[in-house]
Amino acid sequence: MTYISGRGFPSHVISDLSRMKTLFTNKWFFVGTRGDVSKPRDYFTFTLFDEEYFLVHGTDNKIRCIVNRCAHQSARLVNNDVGQCASRIICPNHQWAYKLNGGGLSYASRMSTEFHETEKKNFGLDQIPLREIDGMLFACLHSEPNEEDISNAETVLSPYTSPFKLGESGEYKLAFHHRETIDANWLMVMINNRECCHCSVNHKQLVKLFDPSSFNGAVTPGYENLLKNSADRWEKLGLQWKEDAFDTSSDVRVARYPMAEGFKSISFDGKPVSKKTIGPFAGRDPDESTLSFWFNPNAWIHFASDHISTNWVLPISTDRCELYTSWIVANDAVEGEDYTEEHMTEAWKVTNQEDVGLCMSMNAGAKSEHYRPGPFSSDEKFCTQFCDWYMANSEN
Ligand code: FES
Ligand SMILES: [Fe+2]
Repeated sequence: MTYISGRGFPSHVISDLSRMKTLFTNKWFFVGTRGDVSKPRDYFTFTLFDEEYFLVHGTDNKIRCIVNRCAHQSARLVNNDVGQCASRIICPNHQWAYKLNGGGLSYASRMSTEFHETEKKNFGLDQIPLREIDGMLFACLHSEPNEEDISNAETVLSPYTSPFKLGESGEYKLAFHHRETIDANWLMVMINNRECCHCSVNHKQLVKLFDPSSFNGAVTPGYENLLKNSADRWEKLGLQWKEDAFDTSSDVRVARYPMAEGFKSISFDGKPVSKKTIGPFAGRDPDESTLSFWFNPNAWIHFASDHISTNWVLPISTDRCELYTSWIVANDAVEGEDYTEEHMTEAWKVTNQEDVGLCMSMNAGAKSEHYRPGPFSSDEKFCTQFCDWYMANSEN
């Protein structure tokens, strides 16, 4: 069965691990923000296919993406989801020590002077390319990644995201972080994410925050009015807001969206989740809106006026993936005084759990002998975009 644009993937495409790996080699993927590793020595781990990696914030202020394997006998270097390295990256196995800035081998315990003089330089840690756009971090498995892609993404994103100053040190910190392994193909999670036709029935709480028409292109008179009033407010603040939607070949969709009246953050009760407003809203009242950005192949990020929530998903195999969510707040916000875990994380934890059930259900269905790649409706146009984009960028 061949792929037909406007329909779901044939099952042989869904189960094609080699195609998935080609995509993640050809294209940049989102792996977090400067807020996830906000201080020098902070690290953050993630898994992609059968490899583990970690982001580490150097003392030179640069963030790098390092393969989480020692060059001596391949032990894992850092073990937690997030943490702090010592002044060097020290392998827990035999204590080989690597430089924080660049991963070069600094000292190999028990190895001879001759090794240190002649061979040490060949035993640095492996890295993969990492680029930063306004504090958002993108990695790629290719040794010579496509720089034009990342520069195009920057051209689209920066007018929207630069006012948040996420790329400047000391502005933000990681408040909370959640990860879970899902028994579903990563493609199912992305297809689920790219439409909101499932929202009114499955996300009864989330839909109170957003008018679903804002996400699928339809316009109701009530939403049109809300958008006009919001746009007047944003323009006074000099904020970019008009949607720059995916075209068939682009990797990015970005826009500012109004939330329903009375919703000041991404919370089910509508109340701000942090008392410290951020970026262009710092020192002002919370704004009833989000700046939202969707990135192919794996992320959706929402800049509210009091925090940034990031969601991204990475494949482990054709039947498993990992979903990461992090909540980034102003650096001077204090847990317990300005924000609490339950209030801040509730909306995405609940919503993602609802989606996980749907994704696992679709994944099981794609294995059925009765599986058919059904057609997308016009309200699912971003699913069509994602599927076309995936097929075009994953040819072996
Ligand atoms: S495996 Fe890392 S020091 Fe031996
Ligand atoms: Fe959903």
